[in-house]
Amino acid sequence: MTVIRREEPRDAAAADAIVAAAFGPGRFAKSAYRLREGVAAVAELSFVAEEGARIVGTVRYWPVVIGGEAALMLGPIAIVADRQGQGIALALMQASLAEAKRLGHRAVILVGDEPYYGRAGFKRVQPYGRITMPGPVDYARVLGLSLADGAVEAMKGEVRKAALDERVAAAGCAVG
Ligand SMILES: CC(C)(COP(=O)(O)OP(=O)(O)OC[C@H]1O[C@@H](n2cnc3c(N)ncnc32)[C@H](O)[C@@H]1OP(=O)(O)O)[C@@H](O)C(=O)NCCC(=O)NCCS
Repeated sequence: MTVIRREEPRDAAAADAIVAAAFGPGRFAKSAYRLREGVAAVAELSFVAEEGARIVGTVRYWPVVIGGEAALMLGPIAIVADRQGQGIALALMQASLAEAKRLGHRAVILVGDEPYYGRAGFKRVQPYGRITMPGPVDYARVLGLSLADGAVEAMKGEVRKAALDERVAAAGCAVG
């Protein structure tokens, strides 16, 4: 049985290892990583998937600012290789996005494949470039999800790093 639950401090090493195995060292070069550097993940939105005593999946979110408005950036999300294709990532997104909405977050963005993230409700930000990334990016992969009606559609501007928080170093990778 797969249990989706909030990440606890004791899960962090296992979650970090899944991300490292999924993305490799190249993750540190991505624009999304730059936005996470020196900023803590949103603790209450970090979720893991657990099977028995094994952590098999992780999702984390980082706070960002878009044109002066607070938003969330989804990712990294990763599942251990031998448990992919079972719907675990979708379940992690559904649980964490429901919690984000409950907590009053309004907009979520990510850089990733629309055919996959569309399953969780993400759409390309149109017109391309209305929300810009601080580094080179394929704008067909900049996706958004409004948790409050029209929240993503109302945003315009560059995605910027949220306030620095030295407590947790970003261990994330780019989504995509
Ligand atoms: C991408 C990832 C998180 C998906 O996790 P998962 O638990 O296997 O996903 P789900 O079981 O919810 O969905 C699997 C389905 O999505 C499809 N899918 C996976 N990645 C996809 C992509 N990039 N584009 C389109 N479809 C994709 C699979 O083919 C599968 O399709 P099916 O249901 O028709 O068989 C996982 O494969 C993974 O960890 N990959 C390596 C890390 C990564 O790329 N993370 C995303 C960027 S941060």
